[in-house]
Amino acid sequence: MYAQNIETDQTGADDAAFQARIDAGIKVEPKDPMPAGYRKTLIRQIGQHAHSEVVGQLPEGNWITRAPSLERKLILLAKVQDEAGHGLYLYCACETLGISRDELTEKLLSGEMKYSSIFNYPTLTWADMGAVGWLVDGAAIMNQVPLQRCSYGPYSRAMVRICKEESFHQRQGYSIMMNMAFGTPEQKEMAQDALNRFWYPSLMMFGPSDKDSVHSAQSMRWKIKMNGNDELRQKFVNETVPQADYLGLKVPDDKLQWNEAKQGYDFSEPDWNEFYQVVKGNGPCNRERLEARREAWEGGQWFRDGLMAYAAKETRRRAAA
Ligand code: 3HC
Repeated sequence: MYAQNIETDQTGADDAAFQARIDAGIKVEPKDPMPAGYRKTLIRQIGQHAHSEVVGQLPEGNWITRAPSLERKLILLAKVQDEAGHGLYLYCACETLGISRDELTEKLLSGEMKYSSIFNYPTLTWADMGAVGWLVDGAAIMNQVPLQRCSYGPYSRAMVRICKEESFHQRQGYSIMMNMAFGTPEQKEMAQDALNRFWYPSLMMFGPSDKDSVHSAQSMRWKIKMNGNDELRQKFVNETVPQADYLGLKVPDDKLQWNEAKQGYDFSEPDWNEFYQVVKGNGPCNRERLEARREAWEGGQWFRDGLMAYAAKETRRRAAA
């Protein structure tokens, strides 16, 4: 059904009619005609987003057995399960565009598709669970709340629940940071160290500066993206700096300064060379992350086979009844 849609994707003159629908705020649904480029961009972005949710379980899953209390363990477990759920909604949304989850996974494992750069950094201490929730989920929300209004129906609807859950994740991270920052001097030092290590990688999550962003202009015209990368990064800095101040922690940026004229902070850009290296597969944990996904995929083959065999048996049983 969806494959047929791909063959009838609109191009040329029809693009103007499609753009007019987008401009009028009419959502695009799976069976609607759409330009091939719109479909391709959505598959790239939603697929990358889904992979990020699933790979994003790894740095935190690493701490479930070492959480400092039963309560923290339960909260972290619930958060990591939520991320699996987000991956599921997003893979489902992506499948409506005519690509299967198996194909998406194979593209991830072959390196053809990306996942967020942030998950290629290690989580070294318990304070990192705080920094990840506070900064990484905080950056994710900043980017994803506007996506609830994006033009593709299944993606925009998936974002509604995801954003509610991400908001809980952000608060649980900040709550860990509060415990650490207002705890012993050693705990405060761990919190500062986690902020030092996660600050710039979190800024990178928004993607390259607008001038270097390949897809932003077209994606914003199509309302696949609602804001530019720099605008969201600035908003994130503006909201996060006062939160760091409240914790008594220092954002690791000597150039950070309130700019009255722009009503926002001036801040240092992340190291974009590092960003491109991480995106190319040369970050601290890229190999480890992909290896874990490959093992899970190959190790789960027997289970997927079992599910398919059971489904086929049920179909035969119902047909015979
Ligand atoms: N990590 C990896 N790759 C990135 C990246 C990042 N942080 N930011 C940009 N890139 C890649 C792009 O994919 C693109 O490469 P490609 O053409 O090979 O796909 C290239 O860098 C140029 O960047 P653009 O700005 O042109 O790319 P986009 O227009 O796609 O913008 C984006 C990047 C802002 C991340 C956009 O894709 C987006 O808004 N995606 C949806 C949200 C998302 O994926 N979030 C993942 C965050 S993690 C998460 O949600 C998990 C939660 O639990 C915390």
